[in-house]
Amino acid sequence: MGSRLIIEGGTPLKGTLEASGAKNACLPIMAASILAQGQVELERVPNISDVRVMASILDKIGVKVEFDAQAGHMLLDSSELTTTRAPEDLVRRMNASFDVMGPLLARCGHGEVSMPGGCRLGPRPVNYHIEAFRKLGAEVKVEGGFVKAQAKRLKGAHIIFPAVSVGATKNAMMAATMAEGTTILEGCAREPEISDLANFLIKMGAKISGVGSQTLRIEGVEKLHGAKHSIIADRIEGCTYLIGAAMTQGDLTIDKFEAEYSAAFLAQLEKAGQEVIVGEHYVRVKGRRPILPLEIATSPYPGFPTDLHPQIVALLSIANGVSALAETIFDSRFMYVMELVRLGADLLASGKYVRIRGVEQLVGAPVDAPDIRAGGALVMAGLAAQGETIIRGVKYIDRGYQKLEQNLRSLGAKIERVEEPLKELDQVPFQ
Ligand code: EPZ
Repeated sequence: MGSRLIIEGGTPLKGTLEASGAKNACLPIMAASILAQGQVELERVPNISDVRVMASILDKIGVKVEFDAQAGHMLLDSSELTTTRAPEDLVRRMNASFDVMGPLLARCGHGEVSMPGGCRLGPRPVNYHIEAFRKLGAEVKVEGGFVKAQAKRLKGAHIIFPAVSVGATKNAMMAATMAEGTTILEGCAREPEISDLANFLIKMGAKISGVGSQTLRIEGVEKLHGAKHSIIADRIEGCTYLIGAAMTQGDLTIDKFEAEYSAAFLAQLEKAGQEVIVGEHYVRVKGRRPILPLEIATSPYPGFPTDLHPQIVALLSIANGVSALAETIFDSRFMYVMELVRLGADLLASGKYVRIRGVEQLVGAPVDAPDIRAGGALVMAGLAAQGETIIRGVKYIDRGYQKLEQNLRSLGAKIERVEEPLKELDQVPFQ
């Protein structure tokens, strides 16, 4: 049992929230600190458990990490690394842990990282990462559940990814920064978090061009140095709250937020009849009824993000009519369906599709959060449901949303957390 969230639905979310720093930019940027013999200073680091797990992994490798969680300020010093083997118990807890492999290979010529393993979104293979490391001249083998890679010095290569992969793009780019010669990466993922990582690497002295495009050109350099960087806004966190505003007929502004990185989502929200106001570094949404049905397919950036799939389905579950969504990125991102059905949604998942018949009103019930983004969807659904919703498995929500209850209470929501004793495995030193 973990902590539980108790939500009394029915109050509209009204007010302003400042977006947090993006989890999916912060994690690779923390891993990239391994590349520099020097100090890295980060601002706008979100106080979430995934950041604390990454900090623990880096600590075990010998990186000195100081994290002021309240201020969102982190110092990392990789002057002396003590090992190139990432601890399995921590790596297994988070897919992004594998981001340390590219930097270890580039800096030390060696890395041993546990296979990140499957999670509730389906298998999370790293074959594209491994193929890229091999093309850069590394010898890579998989044994005992670990990926073991080594290379005297990585050599620049021309790599064409067989499919778009955020993780493989990050790892190949980081590995190539100190390879001998030039690396061309084609078929790259273009998520804003990858551009933020690239911009951070450039501040460290890397030579990268084509940032934001599907083709990255990296000229290897001898060494990288420390740098200071402020993490970009978390588009997934911000849009999750905006869906809550739409579902509760609220009026919410997300501040220090770049609408351009959420264009596909905001266009769909407008199509669903919601009022969307885009300003200089903020987005405001006024919830409207009726919510109009949509037909959506998730796709790599700049398409509709898979990380907003459960949340948009929650919104459409109270739309006027029948909607449909195709999940084209992950094999099984449907664990949330039965939980939303427990709240009264009329959903049918089959293959990569989910059909959503809008109902008048959701009704509170006890539900289990199966992963980070489904957890966000269930919270927003609970806020719109009639009566009390109890959400268990809050540890998933804590992986990706900081200060969730405080933020929602500041917007008028009736939500509280009931603490349950944490199992020792959930205790990580960077509490
Ligand atoms: C990143 O995961 C994000 N995580 C995910 O967010 C996000 O959903 C995903 O990108 C897609 O946008 C982080 O950035 C930490 P992929 P990642 O490599 O890198 C397959 C969240 O909630 N694939 O683009 O794992 C893979 O199985 C998380 O914040 C291979 O087959 O995503 C998937 O079907 C959830 N072989 C597809 O590609 C590989 O070597 C996309 O994966 C790599 C991936």
